Amino acid sequence: MTLALPTSLAQSDKLGPLPSQPAVYQVYLRSFRDADGDGVGDLAGLRDGLDAIAALGCDAVWLNPCYLSPQRDHGYDIADYRQIDPSYGTLGDFDAVLDRAHGLGLRVLMDMVANHCSADHAWFQAALDAGPGSEERARFIFRDGRGEHGELPPNNWESVFGGPAWTRVSEPDGQPGQWYLHSFDSSQPDFDWRNPDVAAEFLDVLRFWFDRGVDGFRIDVAHGTVKALGLPDHDGRGHNSVMWDQPEVHEIYRSWRALGDSYPGGKYFVGEVWLPSQDRLADYLRPDELHQAFDFGLLIQPWDAGRMRAAIEEGLRVAGSAPAWALSNHDVHRAATRYGQTQLLDAPPPTDMISAARRTGPADMALGVRRAKAAAGLLLALPGSAFLYQGEELGLPEVFDLPDEARQDPIWFRSDGAQLGRDGCRVPLPWAADGANLGFSPDGGAPAWLPQPAWLARFARDDQERRPDSPLAVYRDLIHRRRPLFGTAPSLHWLDSPDGLLAFTRGMGVCAVNFTDRPQPVPSSWPVGVRVVTTEPAPEPTVLPPNSTSWFQLAGSDPTGRDDQRHNL
Ligand code: GLC
Repeated sequence: MTLALPTSLAQSDKLGPLPSQPAVYQVYLRSFRDADGDGVGDLAGLRDGLDAIAALGCDAVWLNPCYLSPQRDHGYDIADYRQIDPSYGTLGDFDAVLDRAHGLGLRVLMDMVANHCSADHAWFQAALDAGPGSEERARFIFRDGRGEHGELPPNNWESVFGGPAWTRVSEPDGQPGQWYLHSFDSSQPDFDWRNPDVAAEFLDVLRFWFDRGVDGFRIDVAHGTVKALGLPDHDGRGHNSVMWDQPEVHEIYRSWRALGDSYPGGKYFVGEVWLPSQDRLADYLRPDELHQAFDFGLLIQPWDAGRMRAAIEEGLRVAGSAPAWALSNHDVHRAATRYGQTQLLDAPPPTDMISAARRTGPADMALGVRRAKAAAGLLLALPGSAFLYQGEELGLPEVFDLPDEARQDPIWFRSDGAQLGRDGCRVPLPWAADGANLGFSPDGGAPAWLPQPAWLARFARDDQERRPDSPLAVYRDLIHRRRPLFGTAPSLHWLDSPDGLLAFTRGMGVCAVNFTDRPQPVPSSWPVGVRVVTTEPAPEPTVLPPNSTSWFQLAGSDPTGRDDQRHNL
């Protein structure tokens, strides 16, 4: 079966300043590399580490928020959109990262958090001081409470992080007063995007960073910015359709796109849009809106050929040739752990996608790492962009064994410890098996902001650099070989496969995944030539090792790597 490209989406393949179908490395700055020894990753550390990202073969980095922030949600609570947080460095350090990245051929994407800011933001502080009915309050969503004395929240909406989405303030006279809406933590008040001040301010902020040379933005909770008029109660069943995905959000992205397109070469936007149905993504991908939106459908699938194939077909159907695929990010449990846990094959498709990828429970780590490498082999062969979360290339597992007192995620606090939250995927990277904070920090520095368990040393980058069979070596091989083999062919053609195998041709390559725990022969009907990559050692040329992915040249294809559209079936 061939997946046809919806013509309306074909042009979303043009990604402004990014090459078509890029590999993008996600940098969670706090945990990437610490240059000044305070135990917190920083921009100077990133600058030093950019070579490693370029050597991996990536085309761009996406930097989680590094603006001034009290760090209640580690930068997703922004106090000043035009300043760098001092724990990360200065605007000068940021410019140095940009220069170095561009010199290495890496584009730089920042993270734009427009749904909410920090309660420390000057606008919110002014809104608290100015009182009900003021222009300052009209930039946020303040309402009187329900109940005789306004003691009940204005509606029944719940925060994504748990508990009510409203917090009551004390008015300047000290009396209990209005409530403000926060879709996330109470330290993250939502803007009122129906107020033109807000739209104007964000266009100005985007301009500020574009003028500095930033190549694009990942847009945080892009489906959240506008709320239904009148803020009606949620009917209580599943997805809150009055809180998320309102038609007016699209005006915002049209204006952002127009601004981005006004720069030579254009600027790029990818949206974080978590919705129960992938179909809803299509509107965000209209030619005058976002270039891409993350496809989380693949991320949440269990390790199963049929489920993965269905998710890929759905992603390509919705986003044409340009899904933004990811297997991990800073909000979900790491892939190596998820694939090493018992797979829930009979569970109905999850509707709450974030929590679906945050299951606890024991994991077989050796198996999980094998499968994560194989899943990367699958993802990197697909049409579209590939987003890799830092540490994935090392096969890092989720860290479940953090001491309670070390945890920092607001989800942990707002759920009274019932949910571990996201700290376990944010533990600082192990750069070296020995050394301060496993090479994350210089010698003599402070302890890492989240403790690294001793077992993390087994995943150290310096050790993996020396081992040709390490996850790092496999990822590097995959990323370097994906373009010569698959080109930018916009579609794929599935091959008939026995149960437990998944295979397709694309461009001049064949990608084959063995989801089973046994070696499987390559079916004689497959048009395979030489095997160019395998995620596990494969002693016999016609066998697919258990839980692995292999890439082959398409039989009869031009081995020089030109003419990548010829087999675009
Ligand atoms: C997004 C971010 C997440 C953050 C939340 C609130 O989902 O990815 O890390 O906590 O938005 O900004």
